Amino acid sequence: MRRKVTKAVFPVAGLGTRFLPATKSIPKEIMTLVDRPLIQYAIDEARAAGIREFIFVTSRGKGALEDYFDNAPELEASLREKGKTALLDILDSTNMESGAIAYVRQNRPMGLGHAVWCARRMIGDEPFAVILPDDVIAANTPCLKQMVDAYEETGGAMVAAMEVPDEQTSSYGILDVSETRGNLSRVKAMVEKPKRGTAPSNLAVIGRYILPPSVLESLSRISSGAGGEIQLTDAIAHEIVDGRPVHGLRFVGDRFDCGSKSGFLQATVAFGLRRDDLRDDLMGYLRHLMGMRNAAE
Ligand code: G1P
Repeated sequence: MRRKVTKAVFPVAGLGTRFLPATKSIPKEIMTLVDRPLIQYAIDEARAAGIREFIFVTSRGKGALEDYFDNAPELEASLREKGKTALLDILDSTNMESGAIAYVRQNRPMGLGHAVWCARRMIGDEPFAVILPDDVIAANTPCLKQMVDAYEETGGAMVAAMEVPDEQTSSYGILDVSETRGNLSRVKAMVEKPKRGTAPSNLAVIGRYILPPSVLESLSRISSGAGGEIQLTDAIAHEIVDGRPVHGLRFVGDRFDCGSKSGFLQATVAFGLRRDDLRDDLMGYLRHLMGMRNAAE
């Protein structure tokens, strides 16, 4: 029996400078898509995949994140008094069981690999997931659940993968794959942010990983890579060198890059259109905008 993946690491230490001035006082992960913070989507996806322990790698100024997952006794009491049970249910879905979330600080921004390494003591000697909350994925079967199902067959390391246009390969970890069966490819090499024109393929890593604990050992040994940072991609590439399997899963779903303003806006519209209470209004407005544009052309 393969050991179940029950722990997930959420690297949330970034400064979010692309969203200044908003991120001057709120963590990027608290910014909302419709009415839910980005981090809530990541947590819901993890829960749906069987994750029970949530490890946040944070930094200074992320206190609002910790509060978000805590009980809000005064707010709850006031809603109870007014009989607002629907709102209480919504709040309840954000409360985490005591001890389910652990926080560890990354005290210097040294890259994604370093952030994951900061969680090593909490992960211990078992496979774990990593979720980058900037990558929001709308899917009928949540992306990490798709990966956990595939991982039951493959074991080893697994990354979520998606084709990107040539001009974007230099922004991602890129996979070089050998055999492909359905949505699943065996990875024979991977490179972090390859220079323009040097990418081995168009298959990019998207921010979902299932990793064996050996990746943590590699992270403690490797030196800095692309951008002068300790790269998770480089540590996963070591798995291949050491003869352990790494797979890329082309997940089924729509991925939004909420680390960029344009991606965030697109996600806002897409998630708004998925909501029964908002669809008609929002669609009406979008049609109105399109009509104005067509009239102007
Ligand atoms: C990180 C990873 C990269 C991956 C990307 C997905 O990069 O290092 O391999 O392709 O996330 O979003 P970042 O976007 O943090 O620069």
